[in-house]
Amino acid sequence: MAELSSLLFSFFVLSLISQGAKGLQFRKIASAKDGYYFHGGRIIVTSHELAKRLARIVVQKTGRFPSFLFSGACPNSILASSEDGWNKQRRIIHTFISSRTARFAAIARSTASQIMDVGVGGSKGGKNSNGKAVVDINRFIYDQISSISRQSLGNDDAEGGPVPGDVWSATLIIEVFLFVNALSVTSGCKRFVEPLLRNLSACLFRRTANDWALRKYLREAQSWSPFVKELVETCGEHEALGHFWVLTLGSTIPEAWMTRHIIESLAADQDTQSEVYQMIQGESLESLSSNVDFVRWIDKQCNKYIFFPESTKYTSDCLKLGERTIPKGHDITFRYDDMRDIHGETYPWGFGPRGCPGASIGRDVIRCLVFAILHRYRIDKAESEKAKLCWRFPWGLRDKRMLSLFERHERP
Ligand code: HEM
Repeated sequence: MAELSSLLFSFFVLSLISQGAKGLQFRKIASAKDGYYFHGGRIIVTSHELAKRLARIVVQKTGRFPSFLFSGACPNSILASSEDGWNKQRRIIHTFISSRTARFAAIARSTASQIMDVGVGGSKGGKNSNGKAVVDINRFIYDQISSISRQSLGNDDAEGGPVPGDVWSATLIIEVFLFVNALSVTSGCKRFVEPLLRNLSACLFRRTANDWALRKYLREAQSWSPFVKELVETCGEHEALGHFWVLTLGSTIPEAWMTRHIIESLAADQDTQSEVYQMIQGESLESLSSNVDFVRWIDKQCNKYIFFPESTKYTSDCLKLGERTIPKGHDITFRYDDMRDIHGETYPWGFGPRGCPGASIGRDVIRCLVFAILHRYRIDKAESEKAKLCWRFPWGLRDKRMLSLFERHERP
């Protein structure tokens, strides 16, 4: 019975996906010509160039899924707030992120050095023997990046320590709700389903260990962190909680996802791996950012493995698009995945004033971790994984992906 219902469910999902695929085909033909098209009253932009031109007019955000999920289901967080709140939030939060850039860089380098000196042995789910380590690359990278993020955002060397909590526990909620949301969009019932999804996801987020830890941190940190004090005084406790969800999830999940995909792609293509290894030979973590070939290669991979496939913003002024005049406050969705597929260029970190303030941090962390793994190991797929087929959510945030890492040099 369970197998039958799972089979029926799979047919249902496949039929929805194929409907979506038909729509996608139409979209790409339409979009190739003008760089935008209209869909159910919304404007969908698929041109990298057009997005750049619209950057000053299409500024504000709507707070829809998935931004809402990445805010721990707290309304009006910096990722999803509309223009009323954003200016005051931006002043406090963007300034804080800039002030932490050097700390991110230092901790990313010490984490990468640790991998280069000690290796990945002892990591969760990893095995190490005879110069070969088998590791769950997704979990390993996630743990490294989560630790870099919590130390850099917190007060590591003084009172309070790193920001507490475990983002991993939230990834299941994110996966499930992204999936249900995608189904509701494809089946055309998003308008009715979204309010329910919002309430349900908020209920679940409020019960996670990460949420409790963040709320406690926000209460206590006001006494020693001028940033937390100002944030809570200006925005209130609930909104500040949403900002902290954005800061912790935003600086962990997309980076971990992209880094792990880059490393997996190297495991799948040994020739490219040798080429990239040639690029970094003789290089150190300190000189890495001036290695133009490697920096360009990482940027290209970030374009390829974009984490957010789209972003919806609204016009802060009226706008002339072709023959039509678009009024102020109209929704425009930017399809970053279509821009990549059609024009070969996209915005992994968004664009314009609402682009990611942590973009340079993200690029730097990805570079350091890919460098560290590749510097010490030749990467290959793990034998056991080659034959293994398992069901997973499309985003694969919690995938178990085993890779074999072979020491490049003999070690005592
Ligand atoms: C690889 C790493 C990262 C990726 C791919 C990424 C991606 C994004 C994207 C696509 C947006 C939305 C932009 C838009 O709608 O146009 C965004 C916003 C944001 N990100 Fe990131 N991000 C990353 C790292 C970080 C880091 C390290 C931080 C903080 C330390 C951060 C904090 C934020 C914040 C606060 C916003 C909201 C900005 C606003 O609306 O004012 N992100 N990010």
